[in-house]
Amino acid sequence: MCGIVGYIGDKKASDVIIKGLKRLEYRGYDSAGIAYQNGELQVKKGKGKVAKLEAMLDPNENATAGIGHTRWATHGEPNDVNSHPHTSTSQKIALVHNGIIENYGSLKKVLQNKGYEFYSETDTEVLAKLIESFLENGENEFKKAVQLALAQVEGTYGLAIIHADHPDIIIAARKGSPLLIGVGKNEMLVASDASAVAEYTDQVVYLEDGELAVIERDNYNVESSDSTSLIKEVHELAMSLDEIEKGGYPYFMLKEIFEQPKAIADCLRGRIDPEKGTVTLGGIADVMEKLAGAKRLVIAACGTSWHSGIVGEYLFESLVKIPVEVEYASELRYKEPLIGEGDVMIVISQSGETADTLAALRQAKENGALVLGVVNVVGSSIARETDAGVYIHAGPEIGVASTKAFTAQVTVLTLIAIMLAQYKKSISDEKAKKLISELALIPEKMQQVLDKSENLREVSNLFSYAPNFLYLGRSVSFPVALEGALKLKEISYIHAEGYPAAEMKHGPIALIDDMMPVVVIAGTNHTNDKMVSNIEEVRARKGRIIAIVTEGNAEVEDLSEFSFSVPDTEDELSPLLTVIPLQILSYNIAVNRGCDVDQPRNLAKSVTVE
Ligand code: F6R
Repeated sequence: MCGIVGYIGDKKASDVIIKGLKRLEYRGYDSAGIAYQNGELQVKKGKGKVAKLEAMLDPNENATAGIGHTRWATHGEPNDVNSHPHTSTSQKIALVHNGIIENYGSLKKVLQNKGYEFYSETDTEVLAKLIESFLENGENEFKKAVQLALAQVEGTYGLAIIHADHPDIIIAARKGSPLLIGVGKNEMLVASDASAVAEYTDQVVYLEDGELAVIERDNYNVESSDSTSLIKEVHELAMSLDEIEKGGYPYFMLKEIFEQPKAIADCLRGRIDPEKGTVTLGGIADVMEKLAGAKRLVIAACGTSWHSGIVGEYLFESLVKIPVEVEYASELRYKEPLIGEGDVMIVISQSGETADTLAALRQAKENGALVLGVVNVVGSSIARETDAGVYIHAGPEIGVASTKAFTAQVTVLTLIAIMLAQYKKSISDEKAKKLISELALIPEKMQQVLDKSENLREVSNLFSYAPNFLYLGRSVSFPVALEGALKLKEISYIHAEGYPAAEMKHGPIALIDDMMPVVVIAGTNHTNDKMVSNIEEVRARKGRIIAIVTEGNAEVEDLSEFSFSVPDTEDELSPLLTVIPLQILSYNIAVNRGCDVDQPRNLAKSVTVE
């Protein structure tokens, strides 16, 4: 949420920063701004996307240090004044901020009483003025003034700060909002996300909460909150430029949908042996005993990751025979959860930075539970703070609507469930072997689905008008219904609900008329007959059935106005295939409606505020 980039080195800073902001734009895109050192501080900012900011820049300036920001508004509407960077009264300090300063109201009052004037509605402006107030009070060392200001702040921040009188440094600080330093040759970058630095260096240093860094072009010094100098590990980034570019696709979302066969092949690589019928997950091998001894599993996540968690619930309960609770991370943290020793929590997060998920994991750890992560972004906060975990290896996901992360999360949850079930001997060798050999075929079957995705064009065109959609599924297809509905609403702004098919009778059936598209996800499993009855109930009320079926489900195909079939697989694995046509349906409808698929209104990738 919000993107930060800072640069100090030999290159033209604004070029590097603008490029970086474009790569981070998926984290927020309601306004953008930049501040650079050019004898004095120059600030350009305004409502709108990074391209608009780029057009505002003076092509002749040659500053080699600066900071930039792309915003997702929390405090104050998206407008020119509320855009970052924010400056101090003297215009000597400029800073960009991700996170929320929770006590900004009281800090603002104190500063106002001292004569400071405020122009924006943001929490961030307070910080620029607070730092300056310490400099005016005689704490004339820039870093010291930042530390004194941060000591007064309650809330979260990822910060990059520059000062006109200290043109050779950028100060960066982190508490609850991700920040890393990109270590180059005669140049350093600071960013909220590795994709902004990947073009310049593959050497990164992740800042931890409470740390502050003074960054020069050829050096950086990181200090802990008690001002102890730290020796930080330098990590190698495994991110190629191809992965963070559209590569000929009109949108990242479409590219990522089509990357799913590769993402799942990468996710499975070296982890399964279909011949022997074994699963090997090095990330959790050391905790298997504890995991197998768990009284119950609690899965915590948000959004799409929460949906994959519900698929996980079906898998763990049916294969491992362990009780599972799937919680919204945002709810869990405020209900004093009865989670403690003997429990295992699995947190699922693509970004590894979702604030609520991070808070849920910290709470579970504090209560003594073992916490495992199912995470995409290597080195992210959640990945680092969990006791153990399994990366999904889906590659960077940039489209705001999550696609390949969902299928890779489900794949990893399936692997964990099989490995645990084998360890506990709760499934037969035969069943395990069948699941594993079917898993190995999933990338190929996904490709078959994608190869005929043009068949979804007609139905997408037909239903692009619809103001509402209903998605129905049973058993393991229920979370697929939820995910299909979420995809549609977030990128096409059509209201959509996902329901367990039988629940429809308890309310939503009242919505059905001859204008209502009802998407059903029907496999060939034990719930198929019941699903057929549910479809009849919709048809009796003239609802329009769009069915995603497993090949050979002629009964449902015959009952549907439109149907799309996916290859047969084990029932437990069917979400990996049935979700793909739903992703494409929502993509096509969003494009038909002229929506910005990669940057839907009001949304941002990676929700790092509560
Ligand atoms: C939906 C979507 C969001 C995320 C949610 C959790 O398409 O992308 O619902 O799934 O914000 O994000 P992560 O997985 O990064 O914790």
